[in-house]
Amino acid sequence: MIDLAQGACDILRAADPADKVTRALALAADWNAGHAAFQSPGDPPARPARPERPHLLPARAMPKRKAGGSIEKRIALLHALAHIELNAIDLAWDIVARFGTAGTPRDFFGDWVKVGQEEAIHFSLLQARLVELGAQYGDLPAHDGLWQAAEETAHDLLARLAIVPLVLEARGLDVTPATIIDFNRAGDERSAAILERIYRDEIGHVAAGTRWFRHFAEAADLDSKQAWQDRVRRHFKGTLKPPFNDAARSEAGFDPEFYRPLSA
Ligand SMILES: [Fe+2]
Ligand SMILES: [Fe+2]
Repeated sequence: MIDLAQGACDILRAADPADKVTRALALAADWNAGHAAFQSPGDPPARPARPERPHLLPARAMPKRKAGGSIEKRIALLHALAHIELNAIDLAWDIVARFGTAGTPRDFFGDWVKVGQEEAIHFSLLQARLVELGAQYGDLPAHDGLWQAAEETAHDLLARLAIVPLVLEARGLDVTPATIIDFNRAGDERSAAILERIYRDEIGHVAAGTRWFRHFAEAADLDSKQAWQDRVRRHFKGTLKPPFNDAARSEAGFDPEFYRPLSA
């Protein structure tokens, strides 16, 4: 039997994106076939391994990205999205490795294994599209701040779930529809179709966040709305930016009563 948390740690320690993806897909397949199980808690690295390229820059030093339009702009956007998805692979497996215990419900692992599998697919689709456009992941500088939310919430599963799926991935639902329109407008239906696929999957990731945030808040005798707002105030700098995609958020079971009061 493959040890799920150990396998998740191996994914986090894989620096090469193709190796990371292969390991994530293999572990998910093993889990789905009943060949992997949670056996002992993991010892995940504080930061996941990264390839030599892309060069990582502080957020303020990143060139501003624009959607649609010229091939350079489209490549820059796809590259930025690939970088987000690479981080998302690690974020999903880090939840499994860092927060899994002997008492964790099996469905919790099942949900995050599925997220970790889909993030690996998202990265692969974007990387393949970059190659079709004559580029590849690593060609452009990338944002160094994406792991900050993970470090900020490494001590507390409720904080992790409050910020990663329910602030950051939910924000993805708000902005992705406009990006899809921009790609279509630029005549790039292939990139638009990849983003459509990602968008559908990401509704499921927010749904997993909602489901497990409620579960663990209730298990700790907390009011889930109050507990979510407390953690967002404590661990997320700034306010939540409208407009919100209420339809997609509701499909994920994420109630406007949670996030509206914290919006700008
Ligand atoms: Fe994704
Ligand atoms: Fe996601």
